Amino acid sequence: MAKEKIIVTAALPYANGNIHIGHLLEYIQADVYTRFLKSLGKDALYVCASDMHGTPIEVNAKKAGESPKKFASKFLKEHQKDFASFLIGFDNYYHTDSEENKELAEYFFSELRKKDLIYTKKMNVIYCSSCERSLPDRYVRGTCPHCATTEQYGDICESCGIILKGIDLINPKCSLCSKTPIQKESEHYFFKLKKFSKTLEKWFNDKQSGIQPEMRNWLNNWIKKGLEDWCVSRDEPYYGFEIPNSKKETGEKKYFYVWLDAPIGYISSTKNLKKNWKDYWYKGNVQHFIGKDIAYFHFLFWPAMLMAVGIPLPKLTVHGFVNVNGKKMSKSRGTFFTAKDFMKDYSAEALRFYYAQSLDRKIVDIDLNLNDFKAVTNNVLMGNLGNYCYRVLTFAEKNYGAVKEVADGKEEKELIKKSEKLFAEIERSYSEQDYKIVVKKILQIADLGNAYFQKSEVWKDKDSVESKAKVGFCVNLARNLAILVSPVLPEFSDKVFVSLSEKKVLWKDLGFTWKGKLKKVEKLVEKVEIVETAEKFPLQMVVGQIKEVKDHPNADSLYLMQVDFGKKLGKRQVVAGLKKWFEVDELVGRKAVFCANMKPAKLRGELSEGMIFAADDHENVAILDVEKSKLGDSVQFSGMENETKEITFDDFKKVKMMVKEGNVFYKEKKLSTKVEDVTVSGVKEGCRVH
Ligand code: 2FM
Ligand code: ZN
Repeated sequence: MAKEKIIVTAALPYANGNIHIGHLLEYIQADVYTRFLKSLGKDALYVCASDMHGTPIEVNAKKAGESPKKFASKFLKEHQKDFASFLIGFDNYYHTDSEENKELAEYFFSELRKKDLIYTKKMNVIYCSSCERSLPDRYVRGTCPHCATTEQYGDICESCGIILKGIDLINPKCSLCSKTPIQKESEHYFFKLKKFSKTLEKWFNDKQSGIQPEMRNWLNNWIKKGLEDWCVSRDEPYYGFEIPNSKKETGEKKYFYVWLDAPIGYISSTKNLKKNWKDYWYKGNVQHFIGKDIAYFHFLFWPAMLMAVGIPLPKLTVHGFVNVNGKKMSKSRGTFFTAKDFMKDYSAEALRFYYAQSLDRKIVDIDLNLNDFKAVTNNVLMGNLGNYCYRVLTFAEKNYGAVKEVADGKEEKELIKKSEKLFAEIERSYSEQDYKIVVKKILQIADLGNAYFQKSEVWKDKDSVESKAKVGFCVNLARNLAILVSPVLPEFSDKVFVSLSEKKVLWKDLGFTWKGKLKKVEKLVEKVEIVETAEKFPLQMVVGQIKEVKDHPNADSLYLMQVDFGKKLGKRQVVAGLKKWFEVDELVGRKAVFCANMKPAKLRGELSEGMIFAADDHENVAILDVEKSKLGDSVQFSGMENETKEITFDDFKKVKMMVKEGNVFYKEKKLSTKVEDVTVSGVKEGCRVH
């Protein structure tokens, strides 16, 4: 009989940034599932790709002075490396800017057209004449029409949470150049999503669909609110596939919106791997893993597209977000770990095990609490499972070099019965993607093994036939544990199999009759020590000395200052709005605190390569005093480290520091250099420093 063909996917990460531990939850969740299916002997493929298209990639590539293709390809390579280091065993990891994807995107589109599911319509888009581009909602900033909060992005107001369109904003500005954009008419392609409301609703509420109950509620709410047809095209400049004939039809070139071709990337990655890709996609055995943030695309647009081309609907599993120490990951708290950062201090399997023991199929956020992570790795993974396997295999190898007998008395028979019941339960829990239970039951087996080995006291009478047979039983149990845990800990299991001189051990090989030669087993688990990362302060604050002050040629309130930052940072020009407060000779020669990692900017035509910090109570302004410190010295808040990466003026404005008892504070932490606390005088208590 032909084997059942199954496709497993995880969301395609944008080729616009690095993989972080938040991403890894999903790739691990899907990897464990695929490895389990493979262990059962199924023909399962885990396919993925980097998502190459869209505005952010195009904009960032331009900023980096590279072609989007080159820019995105660098991240593609990084993604591949990061996934490999976390033992994510993709059968194919491809990208969406491929021939296969272009062909398939065009195929989908033409099928949709044939079925009269596409129409064009003129609409208003926001256009920046200075950047010569239409702006996606995310690239417009302005005042929320609902709650009047300023500086909001055009897709959502962070203050009141209302979903916006860029067009709704009051006083909109282009987020790339800060100029006021205009509205422009543009003709676009729409997909008739509304038409699918009934069919989709039926699918969500069908028990067979396996949709998680929380998800079902959201979906029914979306349907209740009413679906809208979906705009699937974008204007130039855009990094994506050009829509065939679009110029003829609309007068301008149009491109497929990234969310049209991205999910098709799941298929094109399969096509790139297998000639018979259709055997996988048309048999109704596709399992997607996604995060809750992209549910809308995967439960509405994507299934509607699949239905339109006659591909059976997939199964979907949605997971929550990852928090670290109970809070959203944050660079400033030192809890934002890229895959690479994490690898430096910890191991892939420790994270895989931690995530597995936290995951079931509920859509809840997962907390990676670092102390908990240490306890789980050292006490459970190492102390229980790892310790049992290592101890037993080492004992057997050292004393006997082989297993020739396996005990099967009354006690063992009972243990076998208990274990086999657990094997079946573990298999069911893996199929249900309830890894929490999987881990719990695997640990129960390890407990049984530990207790048996302890009670046997074989070390007291090593050479007896009975002892040898008992150790033989223990080795079999360790081998079973390695099979059971192999989807979660593939390296751990391989080390066990190597010590038994076995390869490719599958679920069907579970049992208690293994005999054979033994090799020395490698260390199975690395202990975790928590590495404290200092909290990051976003600004690079340094001591500089004002050498020269001149009037700004084009602005009445501004000075041009030449500032010396010592050997490493050199001399820089800083534009400052201090003219109202200080005479030139009050400034020349003074040491003060500056921000050195601001993106250089022209202020009224003059380059400014830094910012001076000052306390301001609206009546008086004071410069921060650091007379005893050396030029270029770092100025830091206690226990924090300064960020040195370049920041924008917007980021700069977000940082709120204040004056307390003549010193400067940020989140209750005092500002100082190596040799002195920073002081301020002549301003009111509690005033802001900016
Ligand atoms: O949200 C994201 O990161 C998208 N790049 C996910 C795409 S998943 C799939 F549809 F391609
Ligand atoms: Zn602009």
